[in-house]
Amino acid sequence: KRHLISAADLTRDDALLILDTAEEMARVADRPIKKLPTLRGRTVVNLFFEDSTRTRISFEAAAKRLSADVINFSAKGSSVSKGESLKDTALTLEAMGADAVVIRHHSSGAPHRLATSEWINASVVNAGDGTHEHPTQALLDAFTMRRHLSGVGRDLEGRRVTVVGDILHSRVARSNVLLLTTLGARVTLVAPPTLLPIGVEKWPCEVSYDLDAVLAKSDAVMMLRVQRERMNAAYFPTEREYARRYGLDGQRMAALPEHAIVMHPGPMNRGMEITAEVADSPRCTAVEQVANGVSTRMAVLYLLLGGSEPAISTDRSDSA
Ligand code: CP
Repeated sequence: KRHLISAADLTRDDALLILDTAEEMARVADRPIKKLPTLRGRTVVNLFFEDSTRTRISFEAAAKRLSADVINFSAKGSSVSKGESLKDTALTLEAMGADAVVIRHHSSGAPHRLATSEWINASVVNAGDGTHEHPTQALLDAFTMRRHLSGVGRDLEGRRVTVVGDILHSRVARSNVLLLTTLGARVTLVAPPTLLPIGVEKWPCEVSYDLDAVLAKSDAVMMLRVQRERMNAAYFPTEREYARRYGLDGQRMAALPEHAIVMHPGPMNRGMEITAEVADSPRCTAVEQVANGVSTRMAVLYLLLGGSEPAISTDRSDSA
């Protein structure tokens, strides 16, 4: 495969290959020199039209750990703010010899448009497009769940994952539903009716409006940020009402099975979808998810750009 646009593009074998490769990449982080020479001479462009902390930094760290040259492009402060189009931006990147373009864009479909255009030859990786998809977030989430719930090398067959909150605006929810079901997990979405997308009944998952009814049956509960910046005030719930019905606090966390984990892709609205007590508890994997994001994105870049060579050689010169 040349691009990663949607979690739906991944078969079970594709997803397991990425997760297994990410496990190999995670071992690089334990070395004194956290670098592989695999993508030496290749150029990765981080093309961010929307704000990001975790995704942008972890793609940069991932590319650098594989020895690629990295160009960070943020729409703010670029000629995009003078009205330059995606096409002309892409032609500029092509002229600079980009081998991979990691794109985050406010418009759903922008990474697909770039990947199917003749503007650029680079591999395109979707780092979040509008309310559509965020496939590498779903991969790092699956990587985290696998480590805690089923074990390295396995899929997530039979694991029960509850995704809670603003599903309507969440590209993380859509990519997770697609990838988790491919890996055999059973997903339940919990949200107020106003924060569910039209057509959700056709998604391969269950829907509930009652968080307390599903907690005891969850192996992982993933809390989503309420995305106020994408909301019309007319259906914006009050913070207190939202937290009372859909927020995860210490009392609700105690209703989870002992082995269950609490996940959050970040950034968090502490006090709204998750209390500080839960966010800072050892059961919450939010920070671990960020670390796993680097290994997972290393695996994605490696498989798209350099996949014919073994990722990690036993030759000690690798770490030079
Ligand atoms: N989870 C995630 O995509 O975070 P950022 O918006 O900080 O990249």
